[in-house]
Amino acid sequence: MPNAIIFGATSGIGKTLIHHLIKDGYTLAITGRRLQLLQEIKTKHPDKIFIYQHDVQDIEASDVVFKTILKQFKTIDLVVHSSGVGYENPNLEWEKEYDTLKTNVIGATKIYDLVFNQFIKQKFGHLAAISSIASLRGNRGAPAYFASKAFQVNYLESLYLKTKEIKGGKIYITDIRPGFIDTKMALGDGIFWMAPLEKATKQIYRAIKRKKRRVYISRRWNVIAWVLKVVPSWLMKKVM
Ligand SMILES: NC(=O)c1ccc[n+]([C@@H]2O[C@H](COP(=O)([O-])OP(=O)(O)OC[C@H]3O[C@@H](n4cnc5c(N)ncnc54)[C@H](OP(=O)(O)O)[C@@H]3O)[C@@H](O)[C@H]2O)c1
Repeated sequence: MPNAIIFGATSGIGKTLIHHLIKDGYTLAITGRRLQLLQEIKTKHPDKIFIYQHDVQDIEASDVVFKTILKQFKTIDLVVHSSGVGYENPNLEWEKEYDTLKTNVIGATKIYDLVFNQFIKQKFGHLAAISSIASLRGNRGAPAYFASKAFQVNYLESLYLKTKEIKGGKIYITDIRPGFIDTKMALGDGIFWMAPLEKATKQIYRAIKRKKRRVYISRRWNVIAWVLKVVPSWLMKKVM
């Protein structure tokens, strides 16, 4: 029976993925800071879900939680990293920038490393992490968020490249880059092409099952990604 950990499963994409994984026979460890939400989720599948209240900013707690889950599961098949925060922060309020970096950069890196090192030991495993299309460029309204997503994307690529060092190992890294998905995280006012959460999560899960290296969600964001990669900064400054 396969098992998985979802970091950031109390709401949004992480929470919605639970039902797909349970349907496919996974036993799950799920995390987040909001204990009550974790408890509510557990009541629906008490034998299949184990809950861990956890703040990814607390690096030592990440060690403890990961070790505890590992003790129970012995090996880990799949880890979904969905924990994340983002703020519109045009005035560069430090609290918001700092909170974003502590969660999306420091907290995420700690989880990625714990997971990858475990996968090296066991010689298999799949890390699927939710980054963002925001990773592709800068943004004047939410600089820390966009930069943190660029960090995640590059770090995940590094982990992918490191899989070359594992002879005969079956380790997969999937970088999931959503555009706008209808959760509280969707930043900004003029939001367009907002994907319904269920539909987007279905596409995310399909990409995970196919062990894709990278995927834009929904598919139409492939076009925006292509444009973002070629458009010069002076033009972005003019139109955005
Ligand atoms: N929705 C979009 O349009 C969109 C677009 C691109 C990328 N994304 C990315 O998708 C991921 C999931 O976001 P979502 O849209 O599903 O939004 P969400 O509903 O706000 O989910 C965020 C999850 O992250 C957890 N989290 C936040 N801070 C945490 C912390 N310090 N420690 C542990 N867990 C923490 C939250 O749990 P607790 O609050 O209980 O801790 C929650 O479960 C994020 O990385 C986000 O950047 C979303």
